[in-house]
Amino acid sequence: MERLLVERPQVAAHRPGPPRPAPARPGPWSLHRRAGRAYCALMTVNGEDLLADGRAVVLRQAGPGDVAAITRLYLGLSAGSFHRRFHAGQPGLALTPRLARVGSRTVCLVAAPPAAPDWLAAEARYVPIGAGTAELALTVADDYQGAGLGRLLLEELVRRAREDGLKRLRATVLLTNKPMLRLLQGYGWALADATEDFSVACLEISAVGGMPGWPARSAGQRVLVERRSWFDDERVTALRSAGKDVRQCTGPLREAGRACPLVTSGRCRLAEEAQVIVSLLPDSDPDCAAVLAAHRRRWPRLLAR
Ligand SMILES: CC(C)(COP(=O)(O)OP(=O)(O)OC[C@H]1O[C@@H](n2cnc3c(N)ncnc32)[C@H](O)[C@@H]1OP(=O)(O)O)[C@@H](O)C(=O)NCCC(=O)NCCS
Repeated sequence: MERLLVERPQVAAHRPGPPRPAPARPGPWSLHRRAGRAYCALMTVNGEDLLADGRAVVLRQAGPGDVAAITRLYLGLSAGSFHRRFHAGQPGLALTPRLARVGSRTVCLVAAPPAAPDWLAAEARYVPIGAGTAELALTVADDYQGAGLGRLLLEELVRRAREDGLKRLRATVLLTNKPMLRLLQGYGWALADATEDFSVACLEISAVGGMPGWPARSAGQRVLVERRSWFDDERVTALRSAGKDVRQCTGPLREAGRACPLVTSGRCRLAEEAQVIVSLLPDSDPDCAAVLAAHRRRWPRLLAR
């Protein structure tokens, strides 16, 4: 199976410095801020997308012929960005092209400045991993980060996934990777598996809107656990050991701008498709109490506290 994290390389970095167009002064597109953020899909002019800092990029689908350009993008990443992307140290020149490979089932998008189409500013890809689900990863060059390019690519990737009939996209994300968590939060993620090593979360977003649910043929009884934590406790570990298909939701968190769609819109696939709901959210929090009240109203028989 093609994987996004294919190597655990140990070799030290080699980083050539590609020529980058300098950030332009903020232009009128900065007026297009939505909900206080530099929203990126601000303007598309002649097929070029304008970023929040005024630079333009052209998005296109990539294929095997782009491996050299993707390799150069990976080699140009700072050690921190490389680690956030691959959860490993940078490999040498010889191994990086293997990370950049575009397999036959990979959907890969790249973004580059209009004047330098081979000097990639970013790349995004997904690889199907079965049952309507694909694994995604994004890579934005360090000097393009924070200008909305990640959001632009994720939106395009989700659109492609939906067109390809996928239901969910999965990302393996370091818990310290705030920008990536922020990007996924906009889609309403669920924890699809146990968090590895207390550092790497497996998050799923829906490719068709709303919250992601379960695969059509679930491995075991579908248990939704609502808890504030990223990590399994004894109860969740026991559920998994008993063969249950556990998905976790950390619930609404006002400070983080995370609302519960069940409360706000009356719809949540996670709850609708669950066979058991274990709600361990703090009911002293009014937003969490509203979630529990919605469960009690709609699915009293599924609730286990
Ligand atoms: C993660 C990554 C793809 C995000 O792309 P980006 O172009 O830098 O991100 P954007 O400019 O689109 O911003 C994404 C969101 O993160 C927020 N953000 C940026 N830096 C942040 C920080 N330090 N803390 C919290 N949020 C942050 C932005 O405000 C934005 O949220 P908003 O639109 O709600 O305001 C990019 O930084 C990257 O490639 N990092 C290295 C590799 C990596 O981590 N890949 C992901 C592995 S799955």
